[in-house]
Amino acid sequence: MKEFLHEVADSVQNAVTRRDMNWGEDLGLGADGTTTSLIDKVAEDLVVEIFQEEYPDINILSEELGYMDNGGENTLVLDPIDGTYNATHGFPFFSLSMAIGNQTMSDCHYGLVRHLTSGVSYWAEKGKGAFKDGIPIKPSQPKRDKLVLAAYLGQETSDRGFQIAHIPRRVRAYGSAALEICMVAEGMLDGFHLSSKKGYRDLRVVDIAAATLILREAGGEVYDDDGNPVDLPFKVNARSQVLAVGDKVVLEWIK
Ligand code: IPD
Ligand code: CA
Repeated sequence: MKEFLHEVADSVQNAVTRRDMNWGEDLGLGADGTTTSLIDKVAEDLVVEIFQEEYPDINILSEELGYMDNGGENTLVLDPIDGTYNATHGFPFFSLSMAIGNQTMSDCHYGLVRHLTSGVSYWAEKGKGAFKDGIPIKPSQPKRDKLVLAAYLGQETSDRGFQIAHIPRRVRAYGSAALEICMVAEGMLDGFHLSSKKGYRDLRVVDIAAATLILREAGGEVYDDDGNPVDLPFKVNARSQVLAVGDKVVLEWIK
């Protein structure tokens, strides 16, 4: 499965880094109720086609198509493009996210996040650690006076989100949650937070399933705003706030 998922990521990367396409073309609403752009559709169609050929029994939950029941035990939890705004505006920070599990995030056994412009891959298999391009990764040892967090910041950010943004020494906002959680896993960031007003823009299982396995395998954890570990079911509309940390002490510092 490891080689297979990396090959799928190669195919998507080759397809979506073509420059002669109008990737931002609006194709209407996807299954999760948000807009589908051409780049989302091309990437999703490609992944579905390759899976249908090689593993026709694996069910697919994906942002644009919703749930495809293929009668199997395992489900691919797919975000074909995480960070579509970046992808369609020339900002080179967006990713493909694929996890395989049974029913909820906590039973995912494989996770791959591919940074689609640099080609960097983050990979985890349950119980076997987390890797960046084949090299084991682990989170930072954070320092309270030098804390660096990535955060979701804008007009839809919750009060809690703005409160947290006042605390660290530095804040970054990159716009691909899957990649930002992987950056916590590799110790580049001490944490990542996203919570939105009324929860409308909180993260979906397709955005975070793979990155959460990668962070957990690296030694970190993903919490909601009440401090509970996040475990969303494989449903296209399930959402949660996300506070991803490499070290639990960060939770105390940002109370
Ligand atoms: C988006 C990204 C982004 C987050 C948005 C998500 P999408 O995913 O994860 O970081 O701030 O809320 O919708 O829509 O590009 O798959
Ligand atoms: Ca997406």
